Amino acid sequence: MTRVGIIGCGNISRFHHEGYANAGARIVHAADVRIEAAQAVADRYGAKASADYQAVLADPEVDIVSVLTFASTHKEICLAAIAAGKGVVCEKTLTANAADSAEIARAAEKAGTFFATAYMKRYFPAMQKAKELLAGMGQLMTIYARSWQPAGEVWTAPLDPSQTNWPSPVVRNYGGGCLVCCGSHILDLLHWFGGRPSRIAGDLYVREGMDSDLQSNALLWFENGGIGHFEANWHPLAYAGYERNGWDERLEINAIGGRLDIYTVKWDQPENNGALLVHQDAKTGETTEYRYRAMNPFHAEMAEMVRRYEAGEQPMPSAWDGYVVDETIAQITNSSATKTVVEVKWADRES
Ligand SMILES: NC(=O)c1ccc[n+]([C@@H]2O[C@H](COP(=O)([O-])OP(=O)(O)OC[C@H]3O[C@@H](n4cnc5c(N)ncnc54)[C@H](O)[C@@H]3O)[C@@H](O)[C@H]2O)c1
Repeated sequence: MTRVGIIGCGNISRFHHEGYANAGARIVHAADVRIEAAQAVADRYGAKASADYQAVLADPEVDIVSVLTFASTHKEICLAAIAAGKGVVCEKTLTANAADSAEIARAAEKAGTFFATAYMKRYFPAMQKAKELLAGMGQLMTIYARSWQPAGEVWTAPLDPSQTNWPSPVVRNYGGGCLVCCGSHILDLLHWFGGRPSRIAGDLYVREGMDSDLQSNALLWFENGGIGHFEANWHPLAYAGYERNGWDERLEINAIGGRLDIYTVKWDQPENNGALLVHQDAKTGETTEYRYRAMNPFHAEMAEMVRRYEAGEQPMPSAWDGYVVDETIAQITNSSATKTVVEVKWADRES
């Protein structure tokens, strides 16, 4: 039975520990600098609680750790976990910059570590079915991919001090605004469905007085052909989207053989609705709707992590997949700042 350590017991942690527990793994140690948060998780599972993550890494009973702290702390904790010989499932984004993410991926590869970057949206059945169908749909032409998340009156309301003190908490903790926070998921899906981009044109909208983007757009030219159109937006449209709750996240994938439309559901309330996939076959004209039951993609993700760990397989998405997202974020930002189309250089291909 896989034995799990939880590092960081904040908002996201329940999705991981409940997912592991559902999959039959055992939570044996929880850590958080706020010891009361670690204790609360530990109490649910009869586990140990520590204020220092090093205690989890030194615990011989721990096989794998979920790293669920802010992105700005991931590099230190992940490198220490690799050195301690633990398997690692690290929440996205892998780090707050591409060079640090490449360093982690290199270290994990060298050590042969089981290392996942936790982009759970790959685990919606709608996404997995879309991936399967796309493999038989011929040359990719375009992917339109967007993550619009409701954020109230943030475009127009007076800014509060947490938004105007530089660096703002969102930048200090996560490394950026909506490009990093919600866009990273969509960039992971663009990579999964379209491959890596060779060139990127990006544009960020940063409201006067803020230090991070409210809206980010990019064109990504995929190495193997096809173009990705990317948008992330923290917006005021409270009723937009598939669920009419402001959550407006979808992909439209066009290949020679047909079209796939995918609509996802609000990330922290996946029990409300299932994601939807619509497949249109270009030859027959037949349209098929895949209406999946509501399910928690974190649970599917953690179950697959446990299965792969126990089978001695590498996880998905990998550490290098996490690096690809962080490099793409860096190059969208770079393109926006320089107002140029940038060629992407991948750290894992440097000689
Ligand atoms: N997959 C998703 O959809 C999704 C959604 C939200 C957050 N996240 C990611 O999850 C991670 C955590 O986000 P969150 O919203 O849970 O944040 P949070 O602030 O709620 O929780 C972070 C926790 O880490 C603890 N912590 C910070 N530094 C630590 C350290 N050095 N050692 C031990 N504990 C430490 C904090 O005390 C806090 O309890 C981030 O990387 C974020 O991007 C992913």
